Amino acid sequence: MGSEISCPRCGRKVHPKNRYCEHCGVDIAVAAVLAEQDVITPEIIPTGVPIAPEVLVPRIGDTMIEQGLIRPEDLQRALAYQKDHSSTGKPILVGQALLELGLISREDLDQVITTRILNLHQALNNANQRLTQRVEERTAELQKALERLTELNKLKSNFIANISHELRTPLTHIKGYLDILADSGLGPLTSAQAEAMEVMKRAEERLERLIEDLIQFSLASRGELSLDLQEVELKSMIRIAIDRSRHKASSQEIALAANLPEASLSVKVDEEKIAWVIMQLLDNALKFTPKGGKVAVQATSEDGIVTVAVMDSGIGIPKEQIAEIFEPFHQLDGNTTRRYSGTGLGLAMVRRIIEAHGTQIVVRSVVGRGSRFEFSLPAI
Ligand SMILES: Nc1ncnc2c1ncn2[C@@H]1O[C@H](COP(=O)(O)OP(=O)(O)OP(=O)(O)O)[C@@H](O)[C@H]1O
Ligand SMILES: [Mg+2]
Repeated sequence: MGSEISCPRCGRKVHPKNRYCEHCGVDIAVAAVLAEQDVITPEIIPTGVPIAPEVLVPRIGDTMIEQGLIRPEDLQRALAYQKDHSSTGKPILVGQALLELGLISREDLDQVITTRILNLHQALNNANQRLTQRVEERTAELQKALERLTELNKLKSNFIANISHELRTPLTHIKGYLDILADSGLGPLTSAQAEAMEVMKRAEERLERLIEDLIQFSLASRGELSLDLQEVELKSMIRIAIDRSRHKASSQEIALAANLPEASLSVKVDEEKIAWVIMQLLDNALKFTPKGGKVAVQATSEDGIVTVAVMDSGIGIPKEQIAEIFEPFHQLDGNTTRRYSGTGLGLAMVRRIIEAHGTQIVVRSVVGRGSRFEFSLPAI
């Protein structure tokens, strides 16, 4: 029978449903715990041995010698006597042998057995107590670690929010003066100076966008992403995003297209946030598509569901890494070459915004062929 186990006391097969071993009479659970602590070791008890309390007490002869109740040679005699008995087919236990040889009184034998059983019982209780204590200690440790992690997470969110606000203030001054300078408000600029001003302005704009993203992200991680839902025409939103990306696309020699239906596509969304999502997806599509590639934004309406998809013929994403790209600060080339710019916050925020609208972002991608990022919204 496959479900049989061995008795930890006598080593013979017992059914796991039995509380006591049918061969040696030991409480199987108690014996298992004692065996685990090396208090007892399995030993084969010959069949036919009467089931007496003594079977529960290992090495009883040694205990009696330790207590000065018998001498080692008495034990040897008893063992020899026990062996003789076994050969007659009527095995007896060592205690019984000592008794029959008159080497110990019944009272002393019972006393030794009782004391040993009580000791073993005590050992079991202690072991249980130690176990309970250990479990309590580990639970408390884990609880502490969890509290610390939650606290750290909160600190991180607060830190990002605070630092972003702090960065925004000096940037406003820089932006203000850059605009004045660029418009020759503080005197005419040479063409080299004007060019330098353009570079500075672009860098300032990037920094500004990054700070905005960080603020949005930290607000979202603190669960403060609130939506301002309004009826919006998606097609014009997509056209604006496409127009804003044209320059980037042509400078990278990428064909940029919008595949939009004739009919208008009305949805109820937070306009600013969904526009930001589309820009992020477009930004990624253009960033991860090599020269000569294609990027398109498609919108379709079917059975009351409007679907927006941003597609590219770029480098693609390995299937097993698709979940990763939505992790904050996670970039697939992050720790290798850093060929592509960015912080790895874009998609983390995209997902939060899309999920806040009660829908999901779906990614399909083939490495070397391209990617498709898609989300659906109910039409109104
Ligand atoms: N269209 C895509 N094709 C291939 N890989 C992509 C595409 N979009 C995203 N990824 C991968 O997912 C990662 C995370 O994208 P995400 O937009 O979150 O960050 P990022 O673009 O690197 O930085 P950020 O958007 O914060 O400027 C990218 O670094 C890239 O490895
Ligand atoms: Mg991005």
